[in-house]
Amino acid sequence: MSSQSALSLAEIRSTFLDYFARQGHAVVPSSPLVPRNDPTLMFANSGMVQFKNLFTGLETRDYTRATTSQKCVRAGGKHNDLDNVGYTNRHHTFFEMLGNFSFGDYFKEQAIPFAWEVVTKELGIDPSRLLVTVYHTDDEAAGLWKKVAGLPDERILRIATDDNFWMMGNTGPCGPCSEIFYDHGDHIWGGPPGSPEEDGDRFVEIWNLVFMQYEQFEDGSRRELAAQSIDTGMGIERVAALLQGTNDNYATDLMRALIEASAHESSTDPDGPGRTHHRVIADHLRSVSFLIADGVLPSGEGRGYVLRRIMRRAMRHAHLLGTKDPLMHRLVPELVRQMGAHYPELHEARALIEATLETEEERFRQTLERGLRLLDDELQHLPEGTALPGETAFRLYDTYGFPLDLTQDALRERGRSVDQAGFDAAMAEQKRKARAAWAGSGEVADAGVWFDIADAHGTTDFLGYDTEVAEGQILAVVKDGARVEAAQAGETVQVVLNQTPFYAEAGGQVGDTGVLTTDEGRARITDCRKVAGVHIHFAEVEQGRIEPGTPAKLEVDHARRGAIRANHSATHLLHEALRQRLGEHVAQRGSLNAPDRLRFDFSHTTALSRDDIEAVEAEVNAFIRQNAPVVTRIMPTDDARALGAQALFGEKYGDEVRVVSMGRAPTGKGADGETWSIELCGGTHVRQTGDIGLFVTVGEGASSSGVRRVEALTGEAARRYLADQAARVAAVAGAVKAPRDEVVDRVKALVDERKSLAAEVAELRRQLALAGGGQAAGDAAGPDARDVGGTPFLAQVLSGVTGKDLPGLIDAHKQRIGSGAILLIADTGGKAAVAAGVTDNLTGRLSAVDIVQAAVAQLGGKGGGGRPDMAQGGGKDAANAEAAIAAAEQVLQKVAAE
Ligand code: ALA
Repeated sequence: MSSQSALSLAEIRSTFLDYFARQGHAVVPSSPLVPRNDPTLMFANSGMVQFKNLFTGLETRDYTRATTSQKCVRAGGKHNDLDNVGYTNRHHTFFEMLGNFSFGDYFKEQAIPFAWEVVTKELGIDPSRLLVTVYHTDDEAAGLWKKVAGLPDERILRIATDDNFWMMGNTGPCGPCSEIFYDHGDHIWGGPPGSPEEDGDRFVEIWNLVFMQYEQFEDGSRRELAAQSIDTGMGIERVAALLQGTNDNYATDLMRALIEASAHESSTDPDGPGRTHHRVIADHLRSVSFLIADGVLPSGEGRGYVLRRIMRRAMRHAHLLGTKDPLMHRLVPELVRQMGAHYPELHEARALIEATLETEEERFRQTLERGLRLLDDELQHLPEGTALPGETAFRLYDTYGFPLDLTQDALRERGRSVDQAGFDAAMAEQKRKARAAWAGSGEVADAGVWFDIADAHGTTDFLGYDTEVAEGQILAVVKDGARVEAAQAGETVQVVLNQTPFYAEAGGQVGDTGVLTTDEGRARITDCRKVAGVHIHFAEVEQGRIEPGTPAKLEVDHARRGAIRANHSATHLLHEALRQRLGEHVAQRGSLNAPDRLRFDFSHTTALSRDDIEAVEAEVNAFIRQNAPVVTRIMPTDDARALGAQALFGEKYGDEVRVVSMGRAPTGKGADGETWSIELCGGTHVRQTGDIGLFVTVGEGASSSGVRRVEALTGEAARRYLADQAARVAAVAGAVKAPRDEVVDRVKALVDERKSLAAEVAELRRQLALAGGGQAAGDAAGPDARDVGGTPFLAQVLSGVTGKDLPGLIDAHKQRIGSGAILLIADTGGKAAVAAGVTDNLTGRLSAVDIVQAAVAQLGGKGGGGRPDMAQGGGKDAANAEAAIAAAEQVLQKVAAE
């Protein structure tokens, strides 16, 4: 077949999907590379992964036939091809698998005719080149091949090994399979499947039909599935190769385009000495780009570490091509051209992919050469054929960022290997030191148990940047600081899983809450914290039992997390708004991102004015309305700082950090003159700033010396707050009978009016009292003084005045009578306030204090005091006013008698 008229890879994909669509199959998009429904798998490694629960009957959908082109990565776990990539014609870390699926619909009798028609008619492959294998006991499949395809017995091979029994991993749906092989011809070395020469390139498997019949469990047992089903997988790259007249996947249209891009960008010959490097680069470009598009970012653990290993392997090969500058990111446009039409996620994530690749490669190049030099030096001193000491491999890993397989790859070209046991020992020693150095926060008791778990199972893979629901494998259940076999309903325990969507409290963001369910039980997750990289789920078991070794579904409380995200992103916008308004000295001193509110503490010495708060609030809301995407990247700490990223003062950061950016700044403004906010942050954020909804400040005050605190609300909480405020204004407006927009003037006017009325009332009372008003009591009433033992004495009982009014009244009376003594008793609702006065000419022999004290004694009070000319007191019994006046008279009599 000439390659001119041959089907391109994209045409093979659409031919396949269209054929099965015509046969009543739903065309289902590829699932993401990070499986959402399978905790046992690192990456989707075949088309059936997204349908796993349909085979076992756990889930049903509105179709029973489906067809897909599935993105697959095999670089870690059961199916790992990383080490071979570049050196063979057919190994890939990333490939596309075409498949058709039946969920209890058709079985072998239909799957085999479909496959034969696609291969020979749709794709036009010469039937005389084809042969098939079946599981050795599967007479039914052998019979069908004979009948449908007319294949002679010698081209239907019976295989007794695992090669014809397909399993996704150690557990899950599985069954015998039948594979279709293509014979490239005797000019290529190799033998048919099952022969000693089967590893040669002559006979190539192109399609695997799995007859799903069983489910395999952790303990090795199997059960028969209720419904027999079909799962098939055709590696699109292999089929493209044979249709395009080659046995080399890397010579097909798509891979060749990537290789040529690599050659072009590195100014080298695609088929020259750098041939292997280009192949590695082309393959790895696909896996790393799709992984990043599906939410994986390079890191030191879990999936992120596998991504990093692939990236660094590619980058070493780019370096070997002699390129001076980072290469990988410059190949992304060609990848998007080749694959973006079928996989739109590549378009959407293009900027992220390019930036991630560029920064990772820049950083890695800084140490790559030094690391390789160290490796060469070591090798020179080693006798021929000796393995590289594990210590050296560990130093390369620890200091130069060489994953072990990169060192192995480099050694392979030099015909050497690594002392793996020595490497493992050095790694264990480093972990031991880390544990010893851990001071412990005191919040999570018995840190030892978490380090033990981390040592035994590794750290927890956090999936929560991309999903709030995922399955995890329960690794440990801990109660009171010790691992337990199970927890029962009513118990409070901590649960550790291999992966989780639950965010563990850090950087001011509170831990997630939600639900954990297994086949046997259910627990409420009330908090999540982290020690030694292990996410600790605080669980209250509500039903059944929770046990290690079982898979669990984890669901984060979505509404709560949504509110936390909004508050966290708003905090970043607020931080920059404060910095722009108040000055560069503003730095974060602490924060809280809870579901119901946010709090931000920052260095600043004086209180914010109303104008400051108003301006900052307006600025934050303008960026919310801008609805700009929130972009996350991983980069070396120094690069992040150079970018202008805000970091938490006094916080320790690793070699590399997660950087969260948001908002298009007016030219010259913001963190770097272009982007509004850039911060080092491990938290979870909204996708677009518009998701924050609304931002309202509700408090501003001092947090500690030199540190101010702003408290604020976002989203629904902010709306409710504003609605409450508006309801209060409406209530006030109703009460003061003014339209809402006049309510302030009206209230001010009322307050002023109240003040002048109060003054007026006081004056009237005074006048009334002076005029002998109030309530007169007996003979003593009346403004005139009468003579008591030779002293003019004026006694009066008043109502409607308070104790405070009495001294003023006494002065007025003194002036009026010129000489004498005055006693005023104010009846204040049953109690009595008393004041006595003696004009100055008499104070030599008569004291107002004595008069008051005599009166107070009668009024049910105690004491009373002041000066000889004016004294005051009070009692609880105003009804005894007359007795009090009589007692005062006695004082006057007594003085007269002396
Ligand atoms: N799941 C089968 C495979 O990957 C079809 O080969």
